[in-house]
Amino acid sequence: MVPLQSTVAEERSSVLVVDDFSSNLELLETVFTNAGFEVFSAMDAFSALSIFETHEIDIAIVDVMMPGMDGFELCRRLKSRTEKKFFPVILLTALTDRQSRITGLECGADDFISKPFDAAELTIKSRSLIKLKTLQDELEHSENVILTLAVAMEARDPYTRGHSTRVGEISMAFASFLGFGRKEQEYLKKAGILHDIGKIGVSTDLLCKNGKLTSEELEAIKRHTIIGEEICKPLVSIKGILPVIRSHHERWDGTGFPDGLAGEDIPFNARLLSIVDAFDAMVSKRPYRAGRSLDTAVQVFRKEQYGGQWDPGLVDHFIGMMNRMEAKRTEEWLNLQ
Ligand SMILES: [Fe+2]
Repeated sequence: MVPLQSTVAEERSSVLVVDDFSSNLELLETVFTNAGFEVFSAMDAFSALSIFETHEIDIAIVDVMMPGMDGFELCRRLKSRTEKKFFPVILLTALTDRQSRITGLECGADDFISKPFDAAELTIKSRSLIKLKTLQDELEHSENVILTLAVAMEARDPYTRGHSTRVGEISMAFASFLGFGRKEQEYLKKAGILHDIGKIGVSTDLLCKNGKLTSEELEAIKRHTIIGEEICKPLVSIKGILPVIRSHHERWDGTGFPDGLAGEDIPFNARLLSIVDAFDAMVSKRPYRAGRSLDTAVQVFRKEQYGGQWDPGLVDHFIGMMNRMEAKRTEEWLNLQ
């Protein structure tokens, strides 16, 4: 490990260069030092991993052909930690064949540079990948803040605590049951967590009020769908779930809110989530009643399948899932906080 400069300038990007040939390594060190980077260097993959674990590194430039662990495997390991999924890696290789690039991409490489490399091209590509990583990190950070906020908001009322988390988990399972891909499942999980975030704009007294609500109070509560959409709108990464947040209280027969949409005009994921939302409300405890059993909830869905609240076809699938679900799994859901 060789941090080449002891005086670290403010906001300087750091690069880890890895090459088993000392002359190549020196050249990389010179190029990046001259470009104003803080440079860490390693002559093998294991030293590189150890530097990576102990220092704040912004990008790695990795030679592919190295004895012991090659650059492909090193790239895969650098990317394997969830919190490092946006960490950029450029593979440096004399190989220009298609297969090497495919293998590199499979290992998660962000770009390739062929040897002999152009110094300007290498530093410009590095800077642009670091910029992209910073933006992705910021976006993820904002998303985490809003997800945390949703859970914290819900904890104001002991009777709804855990509701959104459960709706997220069950919606994800339902999406999986329907054969949706992993990405769509994750989307539905987030939609579940965020669907009621607009309640942050409704007073706690009103949310926790026992007894009959006035029509003004009811309207104030209904607005949580629109407020939720507004809160989440600036976050590009969750743009796709805005229709779920807005439309999760629409009804199949068109008598829901806020837009009075009916049938298939209601976004599919909103129809899906509204079933799960109702299911969790049925099986959860309330101040005025105990939670219903799973069997009772399924019976309610069967009875109300064509009653106008939900998409009847989706209700069928939901019942199908509940009938096939292991008791242990549903028990885990119900205990989620
Ligand atoms: Fe809601």
